[in-house]
Amino acid sequence: MTANKRTFMVFMGPPGAGKGTQARILQEKLGLPQISTGDLFRYNLKNETELGLLAKSYMDAGDLVPDEVTIRMVEERLTRADCAPGAIFDGFPRNLVQVVALDEMLADEGGLSLVPMLTVDDDEVMRRITGRRICRTCGAVYHVEFNPPKVAGVCDIDGGELYQRDDDKADTVKNRLYVYYKQTSPLVGYYFAKELLAEVDGSQPPAAVTADLLAVLAEHGIAPG
Ligand code: AP5
Ligand code: MG
Repeated sequence: MTANKRTFMVFMGPPGAGKGTQARILQEKLGLPQISTGDLFRYNLKNETELGLLAKSYMDAGDLVPDEVTIRMVEERLTRADCAPGAIFDGFPRNLVQVVALDEMLADEGGLSLVPMLTVDDDEVMRRITGRRICRTCGAVYHVEFNPPKVAGVCDIDGGELYQRDDDKADTVKNRLYVYYKQTSPLVGYYFAKELLAEVDGSQPPAAVTADLLAVLAEHGIAPG
């Protein structure tokens, strides 16, 4: 990473591709905070804020939360001190309105550095999402088969209870996939045309995906500091 240019990346990929898993790993390695709009909505929901209650009905249906509130939430998040070196966006932008808003937010920063895209097929998406479990207290992500905790239902890190997201039931996942193909996948072409897209095979085991991501980042001059 160059000393004075901030590094902003968007992690693309369908629901369940491993965006959150990889963004959490790379935020440690690169010193860049993960900005997950889904996590921010769930945090608001847990704390029963107005924003959380508004987002709930959309999330439960697997639909997108309205752009205006989503964009405002990201703008506010970017003002926090931990974003001084840049950020990894996870789950944002998700449609063309949000793409334009993000371009405007980063206009004075020279825009995005890279858009890594995790590719995973739809059957694997279903397996990953329906088996996902999350720690109620620290948010760590597990999978009952692919990344199980040492003790079933209990977080390895802080002993918190593991739960299944309300929107991780099969029917809702199908709508999330539909929304992804209809609204979010056009962004792949947008970022390809801007020469920002870098595809990584997301169907490999997590450590192999991390290694490939780090290799792609290094090719673009983005390396652990
Ligand atoms: P969000 O929370 O962003 O959900 P998503 O995009 O559907 O993505 P996921 O979090 O389901 O998947 P992921 O790619 O992060 O995978 P993970 O690493 O967890 O959004 C939820 C909702 O919020 C939306 O539906 C919408 O309503 C709203 N929302 C959010 N952002 C919005 C926006 N910008 N605009 C409007 N509305 C918005 O991994 C999945 C599972 O697989 C885990 O169990 C994990 O352990 C496992 N796993 C990960 N990697 C591997 C691997 N390599 N091999 C095997 N298993 C793996
Ligand atoms: Mg996620």
